[in-house]
Amino acid sequence: MQTLIKPLSINDLTEMKRCGEKITCLTAYDASFSAVLDKAGIDILLVGDSLGMVVQGHSTTLPVSINDMVYHTRCVSHARQRAFIIGDLPFMSYPSPKAAAKNAAKLMQLGGAQMVKLEGSRIDCVSFLVGQGIPVCGHLGLLPQSINQLGRYAVQGKNQADAEKISADAYALQQAGATLLVLECVPAALAKQISAQLSIPVIGIGAGVDCDGQVLVLYDMLNIGTAKRPRFSKNFMVDVNTIEDAVVAYHQAVKRGQFPTPEHSF
Ligand code: KIV
Repeated sequence: MQTLIKPLSINDLTEMKRCGEKITCLTAYDASFSAVLDKAGIDILLVGDSLGMVVQGHSTTLPVSINDMVYHTRCVSHARQRAFIIGDLPFMSYPSPKAAAKNAAKLMQLGGAQMVKLEGSRIDCVSFLVGQGIPVCGHLGLLPQSINQLGRYAVQGKNQADAEKISADAYALQQAGATLLVLECVPAALAKQISAQLSIPVIGIGAGVDCDGQVLVLYDMLNIGTAKRPRFSKNFMVDVNTIEDAVVAYHQAVKRGQFPTPEHSF
């Protein structure tokens, strides 16, 4: 008889933060990798719109549609047993709170997401979604959907004014009801301060070791693809022979606070 494993809930992730247990997260886009990551014990599978770059071959995340996201979220959710599933709301799928709710409902009802993630300080959308019973993950720091405004993928929050704005936005997202936050490419000291200030778990990518958890783009840490790996990522295939072992090595390194090192931080 097959034993049924209960999927993690947002309460489990909040409890991990409270107990000081680091949260592991990787992006996933299909059923096969979903099963591998789930078996390795990864806590969160993020169906990121980074799939536009690593799966679809675009140079940005902008061309990804809500239908693409529903399709890949469904592939991932079908194959997991334990991991918590977050689906990204893609570019221009939340121009208004109502549009955000319509598209978030698709990710949850058709894709099986337990939470949706959106970029930037969109307090209007976050409070509306939360009011409809939709769990929300914020995303601050480097915002890939705003690449044409930013001009380049660069570390954010380096000067005091920018750091204070990110810090204030993080608090405002929590106050609006977001229950998780991704911080991308910010100085480690700023991420440390925000993680300590908030009661919700903060998951870092290029944000130093003091966040409550870590996320990487799966293909970067498996060294798949032709694009240059970002400085904050690491090739976990380098010391092992299988994908399964690389994922376990990442999971253990994050749980033990051994990744990221200063070499992978700003
Ligand atoms: O789309 C994505 O993969 C993400 C991570 C980089 C956090 O949002």
